Amino acid sequence: MQSTLSRRIAALEPSATLTMAAKAKELKASGRKVISLSLGEPDFNTPQHICDAAVKAMQEGKTRYTVASGIPELKQAVCKFYQARHGLEYKPENITVSNGAKHCLHNVFTVLIDEGEEVIIPAPYWVSYAELVKLAGGVPVIVETRQEDDFKLTPEAFRAACTPKTKALLLCSPSNPTGSMYSGEELGALADVAIEKDLWVIADEIYENLVYSGHKFVSFPTVRPELMDRTIIINGVSKTYAMTGWRIGWTFAPAAVAKKMASLQSQETSNPCSISQYAAMAALESSQECVEQMRAEFEKRRDYVASRIAAIDGLSCGNMYGAFYAFVNIQPHLGREYGGKMIETDTDWCLELLEKKGVATVMGSAFGAPGYARLSFANSMEELKDAFDLIEEFLK
Ligand SMILES: Cc1ncc(COP(=O)(O)O)c(C=O)c1O
Repeated sequence: MQSTLSRRIAALEPSATLTMAAKAKELKASGRKVISLSLGEPDFNTPQHICDAAVKAMQEGKTRYTVASGIPELKQAVCKFYQARHGLEYKPENITVSNGAKHCLHNVFTVLIDEGEEVIIPAPYWVSYAELVKLAGGVPVIVETRQEDDFKLTPEAFRAACTPKTKALLLCSPSNPTGSMYSGEELGALADVAIEKDLWVIADEIYENLVYSGHKFVSFPTVRPELMDRTIIINGVSKTYAMTGWRIGWTFAPAAVAKKMASLQSQETSNPCSISQYAAMAALESSQECVEQMRAEFEKRRDYVASRIAAIDGLSCGNMYGAFYAFVNIQPHLGREYGGKMIETDTDWCLELLEKKGVATVMGSAFGAPGYARLSFANSMEELKDAFDLIEEFLK
């Protein structure tokens, strides 16, 4: 029997964030104190009223298969929420509910991308994008951005990256890993290129509710009327409602695409967890006070983290408008000795910081940006303070 793996799977890299988190757990298990700034997961519990809705769903026997692409009530709630927030008229036929936003992305690439077609991804990018594109047979085309531009893709760089094989642009705003966010005007300029080149835009807006300092989040298709026909929005409850384990995400897509995504899902996974779907509905339909409380807490932490980074010689980062990450430029601290050991790369730096000081971060190279480290501030203030004290000691 042939024992080789498929070429697609052989080329697949494991998620670096999960790898770093696993390493941190290993160290912890060996009795070391570890502060993990590696995972992108709110440290809050899911609000009680959402858990109550899940219990109620179970008690009412909502424990069976649902429509593969999600229950109509949840799709309706998603549309209503989006209409109230962004003024766009999506219908349930545009929505596919999946097992988290990551699953949505997998579905989108599988449905849209043919072998060899290119997807433009601005770097730094979220770890899974490039791998998911490759898994679907596509070719990720990575376009570098600059810290001075807050890591935003410019229309010129976008246009220059387009080839006859380009199928889509993938945008993440607010961004994991940089915390950057595009203004309406900046999105408009990118939209013009997408329209001119007749491309799809996949807009990952999963952090839309975690935005700071009064900055306004703009949903991509709102900037030009014709964009609804060529945009796929990715969103969900994981980050906004501290529901990472419930696994509910959704896409907004033109009905023909949504229909194919539903078919794919019906063959691959069937419906996302029925109970989680009712919980997600409760999250959208009840007071958003809990979201504001968590957002305000993240904002305090963002301010604290920004002040600590600014106070350490040789560290810097771009403006953090949203999400809960600092993408820290550590280049001035590479190519030097730490306790007699030469550290050249961001990967070595992150591993050494974990080994020596017990602080877990993720190397920038995993996000297509060597020379950086991503620190998640979805941790308590005490942990953040301790982590930065340890980073300061490490750098000395
Ligand atoms: C930018 C971005 N998109 C999608 C996801 C996946 O979210 P989910 O947990 O809902 O699959 C994440 C999670 O870290 C993310 O940061």
